[in-house]
Amino acid sequence: MSKSAEQKINAIVIGAGGVGVVTAYSLYHNGVAEVSLVTRSDYDHVVEFGYKLESCDYGQIDSWKPHNVYKTVEDASAAEKFFDYIIVTTKNIPDGPKDSTVHAILKPVIESNHELDPKKLTNVVLVQNGIDIEKEVLEHFEKSTYNLCLLSGVQLIASTKVGPGHVVQKGKDNVSFGSFDKTDEVAVEQAKKLASIYHNEGHNTGAFDDNVRRTRWNKLLYNAAINTTTALVGLDVSRCFEFASKKESTEFGIFRPAMQEIAAIAASENIAIDEDLIEFFNEEVRNIMYKPSMCVDVENGRLMELEILLGNPIRTAKANGVQTPTLCLLYNLLILVQNKLKEQKKLIEFNEETLKLVV
Ligand SMILES: *[C@@H]1O[C@H](CO)[C@@H](O)[C@H](O)[C@H]1NC(C)=O
Ligand SMILES: *[C@@H]1O[C@H](CO)[C@@H](O)[C@H](O)[C@H]1NC(C)=O
Repeated sequence: MSKSAEQKINAIVIGAGGVGVVTAYSLYHNGVAEVSLVTRSDYDHVVEFGYKLESCDYGQIDSWKPHNVYKTVEDASAAEKFFDYIIVTTKNIPDGPKDSTVHAILKPVIESNHELDPKKLTNVVLVQNGIDIEKEVLEHFEKSTYNLCLLSGVQLIASTKVGPGHVVQKGKDNVSFGSFDKTDEVAVEQAKKLASIYHNEGHNTGAFDDNVRRTRWNKLLYNAAINTTTALVGLDVSRCFEFASKKESTEFGIFRPAMQEIAAIAASENIAIDEDLIEFFNEEVRNIMYKPSMCVDVENGRLMELEILLGNPIRTAKANGVQTPTLCLLYNLLILVQNKLKEQKKLIEFNEETLKLVV
């Protein structure tokens, strides 16, 4: 069967920042999928002019339009299209504004899929950081009722939106897709299929990952220890090493203990972290001038992905009886920073007469 004779696979990407737009383009590139994109802020611009991409993977593209563009997820759900793959590339902030949590974003399209064809599979693909992020989705949508496959995407990329409809991608795109539940054979097949649609030989990388949890715990080693510390103190990684007492206290008093605690929590979940990674991160990253996105978020007054990075692993540690003093201290301090940001954004209110939060 020729590709055009096959029924096209419908994919929708929710979250049209620098990363989401490249993700949508990668899906579009080999012509197998019909690609929809949700973009609120750039909608008018993109409908008229398309995207301008300056991409290290695809070269310069002056005017690219996905097959369909929607301003909101509600508009997408009204389009009478069944989306085989719902791909979420937004930040994951469960403690953020109610309309921007992952389950709230998914609701309209999961429900419209269900109404259109309750027997067909809906793949929910979370291309996001953190651990246990699939649980929020499963708490709000019953897997069998909605016929869901929960897929994970772990993405390495550097891409930024620099203006309306204008994206500059400087770091190559590499996504590993897998099933959150590796015993779910249906989801495993769907992840393999998605990786093959996504991969464009000679351009980007889309690969199948057979152990998503291990991949995510490995990634957490860096993110939970280093992103968090830089965000707390507002310094890039190299300065965090160098500004330490005897140039040692950050590494030996914070980074390594935090990483050991992550490894211990993972071990309590029967996941063996590659301990060489702890050496690698501490030896190598100090030599690269770098400010993690979490630090940049705080500097720009944006909420942090705190719960999926520290909150969830600490809850697992508590449940499994693992001691995590370093992670808990980082977490408790960052909760204060998060609430400071929320107060600035008027998401919470403090009454200086009663000295209490207004609820
Ligand atoms: C893509 O990332 C994976 C780890 O997530 C790595 O093993 C692989 O080598 C990378 N591939 C390329 C082409 O960079
Ligand atoms: C942590 O920092 C790395 C490097 O900027 C980034 O790839 C990752 O998305 C960050 N994770 C979180 C949760 O902020």
